[in-house]
Amino acid sequence: MDGIKFTVAIDGPAAAGKGTISKAVAAHFGFSHLDTGLLYRAVGAKVLAGGDPVAVARMLDPVDLENDDLRTPAVAQAASQVAVIADVRAALVDFQRKFAARDGGAVLDGRDIGTVICPDAHVKLFVTASAECRAKRRYKELSDKGINVTPAQVLADVKERDARDSGRAAAPLIAADDAALIDTSEMTIEEAVAQAVAIVAAAKDDVR
Ligand code: CDP
Repeated sequence: MDGIKFTVAIDGPAAAGKGTISKAVAAHFGFSHLDTGLLYRAVGAKVLAGGDPVAVARMLDPVDLENDDLRTPAVAQAASQVAVIADVRAALVDFQRKFAARDGGAVLDGRDIGTVICPDAHVKLFVTASAECRAKRRYKELSDKGINVTPAQVLADVKERDARDSGRAAAPLIAADDAALIDTSEMTIEEAVAQAVAIVAAAKDDVR
C-alpha cells in the first residue's frame, strides 16, 4: 500500500490484548505500528526520575520509547497519572497524528486513538476483556519477565488505572461510536487476531 494512507485505531482498557493484536495486524498488512501507551509510560518514567510532566512531554524523543524498563507496574501507574494532564496529552498529539498519516498504513493503539487522535481512522477497534482475564494475562507477562508481583497487585493496578483512565476529563477511555467491539475474555490470541484482521481486511477492500 505504498503512498496510501490507511489508519487503524485500536483502543481499550489496560492489558486487554491491544498490543498483541496491533502488532499482528501491522505485520499482516505491512503497516507501521505505534504503541501510544509507550509515550505516556516514557513521560511517567521521567517524572518518577524527578522531571516535570509537561516539560518532559514536550521534549520527548522517539529514542525514549526504546526502553525495556517502561513495562513495570510502577511506570504504568505513573503513566496513567501523567495521562490525566491535558497539557501532557496536547504535547503528544502531533507525533501521533504524523505517525498515523505515514505512507503505507499505520496501526496505533491506546485509549483515545479512535476518539481524539484519529477520529477519521479507516478502522476503529475497541478491544476489551473482563478485569480478571486482563489481570491474569498481565500477571503472566510480568512474571515471565522476572518482575516480582502478585496476582492481587496486578488486578488492583489494572482496576485503578481503568478507573482513572475512564474517569478523567481529558480524552477519557471510551469506545468511539463507530468502533467494532472485540471482547477477548473467552478468545485465544489467535481468535482475537483473526477477528481483527478480518475487520481490517473488509475495510481495506472498501477503500480500494
Ligand atoms: O499496556 P497497558 O494497556 O497496560 O497500558 P499502556 O497502553 O501502555 O498505557 C499506560 C497508560 O498510559 C494507560 O493506563 C493510560 O493512562 C495512558 N494512555 C493514555 O492515556 N492514552 C493513550 N493513548 C495510551 C495510554
